[in-house]
Amino acid sequence: MSALSMSASPTRPQNAVIPDVPTILCLSSYFKGNAFLQEAKRLGAHVILVTIDELKDDPWDHAAIDEFFHLPIAGLSKQPDITYAVSYLARSRVIDRIVALDDFDVETAGDLREHLRMAGMGASEARLVRDKLAMRVAAQAAGVMIPPFVHTLNHAQVADFMARVPPPWVLKPRGEASAMGIRKLHHADELWARLNELGDRQSFYLLEQFIPGDVYHVDSVIWDGEVLFSAASKYGVPPMAVYHGGGVFATSNVASTSQEAAGLAVANSAVVHALQMRRGVGHIEFIHSHADGKFYFLEAAGRVGGASIDLMIEHATGVNLWREWARLEVAQARHESYTAPVPEQHFAGLLVSLARQEWPDTSAYNDAEVVWRLHKKHHVGLIVRAETSARVQELLAGYTDRVARDFTSSEPPLEHAPH
Ligand SMILES: Nc1ncnc2c1ncn2[C@@H]1O[C@H](COP(=O)(O)OP(=O)(O)O)[C@@H](O)[C@H]1O
Ligand SMILES: [Mg+2]
Repeated sequence: MSALSMSASPTRPQNAVIPDVPTILCLSSYFKGNAFLQEAKRLGAHVILVTIDELKDDPWDHAAIDEFFHLPIAGLSKQPDITYAVSYLARSRVIDRIVALDDFDVETAGDLREHLRMAGMGASEARLVRDKLAMRVAAQAAGVMIPPFVHTLNHAQVADFMARVPPPWVLKPRGEASAMGIRKLHHADELWARLNELGDRQSFYLLEQFIPGDVYHVDSVIWDGEVLFSAASKYGVPPMAVYHGGGVFATSNVASTSQEAAGLAVANSAVVHALQMRRGVGHIEFIHSHADGKFYFLEAAGRVGGASIDLMIEHATGVNLWREWARLEVAQARHESYTAPVPEQHFAGLLVSLARQEWPDTSAYNDAEVVWRLHKKHHVGLIVRAETSARVQELLAGYTDRVARDFTSSEPPLEHAPH
């Protein structure tokens, strides 16, 4: 149904469709999340998916979707269209939960929950996992270690920051997946010139110290404000280097018994609390500083990690984050409790690169540990799984070199930053 046909429908009250099962409305501006839809359906929920026309023919699992709507708008954040569309649906349905499958839908879902007065993250909480400045201010207030930063708002404060905090710095947009928009700066003059170019857009940026180090991500399941499951992983080369250098994106999980995993678990819980993440999944990134060995909070998202990270984690732990998210949304709608699964401990590594070839042939990449291959035009991607971290690292190192030689083009490898 389009927004037009929604508004053209009769205004007289219609027979309400009020199923006695939880109704979950999912928003997605990107094709993803079939595993969520399948699990919600399997648990007996009434599943509604709202997406955009452009994605209507993508391979959504229609068997898991009770009602499928696509809107003739560029993105689901378009107002008032999305509010009209969802409110129209709510005339004849009791919607229990709204779930944003994609990062771009998180704020929209927050606004809709506020409009419909529904449980779940409202607009301000949604902002804490979307706006890089909001998450820094909240993390800092809670005493979480973060790189020194300043909002590029008040010029005296920006000048003071640059006088106090040694370069290099990074200037980054607050609100979008920004690896490509991030600039590394070495002199105050560069910053002022850039702010001048940005004009009225400058308040949508922040400046922070560049912390050399390894970048990690912690993917977790959160229930009642507590982390019930988490897996820590380390990116091959930091995502910014992949973007700016056009290299191979890689990540692999670290042993749950390792010291780094322990440090990350503590840091991750602190961020979950600071950002008031009550229920759902989190994908939170940290920099392990080469200088002092501490974990610095980099950014947080209230959704499943992109770029097939979900599959890497499933191979490593047996836990599928989409499924757990669906389980906890259904449990919440039913006022039931949720218990997280006990993770297995394997090791998995993921590698993704843009390919010159339309359908790159990876059949020569045939170690027994290869458990998954990406099927996507002009992309190459695979997951390896082994019983030791060392073996995963060995395989990833070998394949990274081969992929760079055989396939990689100089473009960045992912449509969505792996943030
Ligand atoms: N303060 C920083 N110090 C060092 N590297 C950084 C810093 N901020 C960002 N980066 C690099 O840029 C990448 C992208 O930054 P991030 O804030 O995660 O934005 P996004 O993932 O939304 O593009 C990081 O993974 C890291 O490689
Ligand atoms: Mg990121």
